[in-house]
Amino acid sequence: MRKFCFVIHPLSLADIARYEPGAKGKGEPILRKIMEWMPPWAVVHVTGVRTPDGRETEGWFVAAPLLPEQLIALPRDEVYARIQRAIEIGIELGAEIAGLGAFTAVVGDGGVTINQRVGIPVTTGNSLTIAAGLQSLFRGADEMGVDASQATLAVIGATGSIGGACIELAAERVGKIVMVARNETRLRKFHAQKAPELPVPSSYTTDIGAAVRQAQLVLTATSATQDVIEPEDLQTGAVVCELSLPHDVSRRVALERPDVLVTEGGNMLLPGNPRFERVREPGTEFDLNLPPRTALACMSETMVLALEDRLEPFTLGRGIDVARVREMAAMAQRCGFELAGMRAFDAAIDRAKIEATRAAAQARRARTVAQHV
Ligand SMILES: NC(=O)c1ccc[n+]([C@@H]2O[C@H](COP(=O)([O-])OP(=O)(O)OC[C@H]3O[C@@H](n4cnc5c(N)ncnc54)[C@H](OP(=O)(O)O)[C@@H]3O)[C@@H](O)[C@H]2O)c1
Repeated sequence: MRKFCFVIHPLSLADIARYEPGAKGKGEPILRKIMEWMPPWAVVHVTGVRTPDGRETEGWFVAAPLLPEQLIALPRDEVYARIQRAIEIGIELGAEIAGLGAFTAVVGDGGVTINQRVGIPVTTGNSLTIAAGLQSLFRGADEMGVDASQATLAVIGATGSIGGACIELAAERVGKIVMVARNETRLRKFHAQKAPELPVPSSYTTDIGAAVRQAQLVLTATSATQDVIEPEDLQTGAVVCELSLPHDVSRRVALERPDVLVTEGGNMLLPGNPRFERVREPGTEFDLNLPPRTALACMSETMVLALEDRLEPFTLGRGIDVARVREMAAMAQRCGFELAGMRAFDAAIDRAKIEATRAAAQARRARTVAQHV
């Protein structure tokens, strides 16, 4: 059996207590300071991930306990050293392949340097995240009755590792693409290079609101640490697929826009009978903040590589090869991984919620028409 490790980190101050229950009730400045010197440790032991044909893997989630903004702001070498140490703990436990979670894959060159520095292959997990994200986006479009082939898709974080590949793959299925990022020079160059290769018209802008106002479909994959999608900009009945961690979509959307379908794009249902047990409190489940048997797509990619005996740095850096995304999707399917049920704002989206969202969109459209008569 091949074993894996996966580097995790808290996405917010509130998230820290999931990693270390002793942190509950401590003030923000103390927590931030503690995290600056806190060394990595193995938080979760994962067992029971088993393919339909009986292959199994086991692994560990190892925390590099830094917040997204700390991973970006602290000196690069200090951050790399922390991630490297987390992987070394995984190696000591028996891991033969490592995955990078959330901002540990975003920082610096997207895993390239880390892969060179540690003794086992490293993957960011972005190939399966891209495949799962697109599946989620188009599932959402179907559910909301949006004809994707006629729709404008806004990709927020277009020049990133995930956003760039999503554009290439989604272009076969949508009517138009708007690419969005902050760095205009990089975005302009990226658009000039990509646009001629795409089968549909495309444009670019650094104005997120302007892009979202044009779009029936929105995919977000930014490295922002604050909300970037606000309720005022969304079209009636729009579908938003959210891949970013921490999330990009303001919670106000849940409250103020019942007609918009927001769905987290990167969640997978694992095969077998997976258990996420706390290493320091054996017998206690770690709360992944997801439904049972569910994990992030980037975690799942690391597990798939272990199950398939593909001990290689499968996905690294920016400029992801879409052929690799397709290959990873096929491997994941063969191993029995499935797209998880729809979910957003910490709650499942069931049939009743979808029907209510469609009805709210219809009512809002009717109100708009009435106002213009
Ligand atoms: N759900 C999952 O399983 C999963 C798996 C892997 C990664 N992720 C998440 O996916 C996200 C993207 O990862 P990545 O590896 O593709 O990152 P990346 O390569 O660093 O790309 C980030 C993109 O976001 C843009 N961006 C950053 N801040 C922005 C802002 N405030 N407004 C608009 N655009 C902004 C960047 O361009 P500019 O700098 O020019 O703005 C760039 O285009 C991260 O949040 C990561 O944690 C999720």
